Order: sequence, then C-alpha cells, then structure tokens
Amino acid sequence: MKIAVVLGSIREGRFGPQVAKWAVSNIAGAELVDLKSFNLPLLTSAPPMAMKGKYDVPEQQAWADAMSKYDAYIFVTGEYNHGIPGALKNAIDSLGVELQGKKASFISYGFDGAIRAVDQLRIVLHNFSMRLPRAQVSINLNTEMVDGTFVPGDHQIGALTLAVEQLKAD
Ligand SMILES: Cc1cc2nc3c(=O)[nH]c(=O)nc-3n(C[C@H](O)[C@H](O)[C@H](O)COP(=O)(O)O)c2cc1C
Repeated sequence: MKIAVVLGSIREGRFGPQVAKWAVSNIAGAELVDLKSFNLPLLTSAPPMAMKGKYDVPEQQAWADAMSKYDAYIFVTGEYNHGIPGALKNAIDSLGVELQGKKASFISYGFDGAIRAVDQLRIVLHNFSMRLPRAQVSINLNTEMVDGTFVPGDHQIGALTLAVEQLKAD
C-alpha cells in the first residue's frame, strides 16, 4: 500500500512540517505530499468529480496527479477557528476520482488536539466514499510544542502505529 503523508498547512512559519516529517520518518515507505508546494488556487472551475481526472488549471492537475499515486493518505492538519483550515478544504474540493474509495487517517495538532478539524474532515471525505478507520493521532500543542519545537509525547509512536495498522487492514 502506497501511503502519502499530506501536509495541509500552507502558512508562512507553519508548524505542520515538523509533524509531517515526524510521521514520514516513522512510517516505512510513506512519502510526503506538501500542499504548499503546489500553489493551488481557489477552485473556480467545474465540479472536479465530473472531470474524470482531467483539469484545466495546471496547478490543480499537478495536485491531482500527485495525489492519485497513492492508495491511502494520512492528512496532517491543524485547526483554524475550530474547523478545517481553508487551504486544505479547498485542496480536497479540487479533487475527484483521485480520492474515490481510498483510505485515510489523520494526524492533527492544536491546543485541544484539533479533533474538531478531523471530525469535519471525516464528514467531507465520506463524500468520496473513503474508508476512514477510527484510530488517529491527536497532538496537544500545550504540551507537545516547546518553544516552537514539536516534542511528541511518549504515547504518540503507539498512536501512530495503530493508525497505520488500521489504515493497512482490509
Ligand atoms: C486562522 C487561525 C485560526 C486558529 N484557530 C485555532 C483553533 O481554533 N484551535 C486551535 O487549537 N488553534 C488554533 N489556531 C492556532 C494553531 O493551532 C497554530 O497556529 C498552529 O501552529 C497552526 O498550524 P500551522 O502552523 O501548521 O498553520 C489558529 C491559527 C490560525 C492561523
């Protein structure tokens, strides 16, 4: 199973890369897909689900082509105003067949663990008929961000291992 760790944060000075790199280094064979590197514009064209993987916007095509290579995704996300960061929602809205029927899990980080953002992502990804196992990794920035540095709690490797196991299970 080819697994992408999808970094959904695009802000200057974002915290997300530290979390995504930790995940990639602890999941054998996983690859990083960094949304920021695609300079994806806001979706203003036709509903992607109807486009069968062919898009008029070059950045959208590149994003879709990159995402289509994987069987499963681990979305790494923060929480903005108790919800999915807008850039990540737009990036998901910009996809169609690439996600259809595949599997996903989540690593979230925030001052309450950002589980509200993940709950919203689960609702959104259900529209792609994705399979979304229960296990996820939730990072609390009150205790696991020290002077701007990600310091994962001792339990997090176990949480990540379980999430990956469930992602790989049938
Ligand atoms: C627009 C915005 C809204 C935010 N809202 C929340 C929030 O609702 N809950 C929370 O725990 N943190 C919130 N934060 C703080 C983020 O958890 C923190 O800035 C984190 O580093 C964001 O991830 P990023 O740096 O990868 O973008 C917010 C940050 C931004 C920029």
